[in-house]
Amino acid sequence: MRIDPKNFEGFNRVLTGVVVPRPIAFVSSVSADGIVNLAPFSFFNAMAYDPATIVLGISRSAGWKAKDTLANIEATGEFVVSVVVDDIAEAMNSTAAEFPADVDEFEIAGLTAKPSELVRAPLVAESPVNMECKLNQVVEIGDGTNHGIVIGEILLMHVRDDIINGHRINHRRLKPVGRLAGNMYCKTDDVYEMVRPQYDGRGD
Ligand SMILES: Cc1cc2nc3c(=O)[nH]c(=O)nc-3n(C[C@H](O)[C@H](O)[C@H](O)COP(=O)(O)O)c2cc1C
Repeated sequence: MRIDPKNFEGFNRVLTGVVVPRPIAFVSSVSADGIVNLAPFSFFNAMAYDPATIVLGISRSAGWKAKDTLANIEATGEFVVSVVVDDIAEAMNSTAAEFPADVDEFEIAGLTAKPSELVRAPLVAESPVNMECKLNQVVEIGDGTNHGIVIGEILLMHVRDDIINGHRINHRRLKPVGRLAGNMYCKTDDVYEMVRPQYDGRGD
C-alpha cells in the first residue's frame, strides 16, 4: 500500500501507529496567572545533549479550546518534563482529558506537585525523572495555526537515586511506558543488548 499523507483520511493514526513506541513526556507548566497544568505528550524525544535539548510536538487546538501546555510554555518560557513510568501510567492518562484551563490536573490525578529549583512549573514527585526546562523556541508547523514544535533546554535533571549508578540508568527499575497507537501502550520488560560495530577500514 502506498500512502500520500496529504490524501489519506486518518493519516495521523497511521503515523502514530508506525513511529512506535514513543516515550511519554508528562509536562507540567504554569500559566501567566499562576495556574498549574499537567498533560502527557508522546510527540517527544531528546535531540541533543550539549546543550541538553528535548522536543515536544503540540497541537494548538484540543477541540473546543487551545492546549494549555503550549499557551503556558509560550507565556512563561518554562516547563518541566517528567518521565511516565508504570506506576503513574493511569494517573498520566487521567490528565489527558480536555480540561478547562483553571483545572489543576495534579489534583485530578492524585499526584504531588513538588517545587522545582529553577522554574515555576512543579516537578511530579511520583516520577523518578524530572527535567526542569526553559523554552529555546517554538517552531510553527504548517500555516502556523495547527502545531508547534517546542524546543526546550534542560536546565536541571532530577533522577531518583535508586535508578542511577554512575551514569548508567537501570531500566528494570525505571519501568518507562511506551506509547503505541491510540489507547495502546507497552512496557519495557523485554530488553536485549546489541554491540555497535566499529569501522576498522581506514587503511592505516
Ligand atoms: C499518552 C498521550 C500522549 C499524547 N501526546 C500528545 C502529543 O504528543 N501532542 C498533542 O498535541 N497532544 C497529545 N496528547 C493529548 C493531550 O495530552 C491532551 O490534548 C491534553 O488535554 C492537553 O492538555 P492541556 O490543554 O492541559 O495542554 C496525548 C495524550 C495522551 C494520553
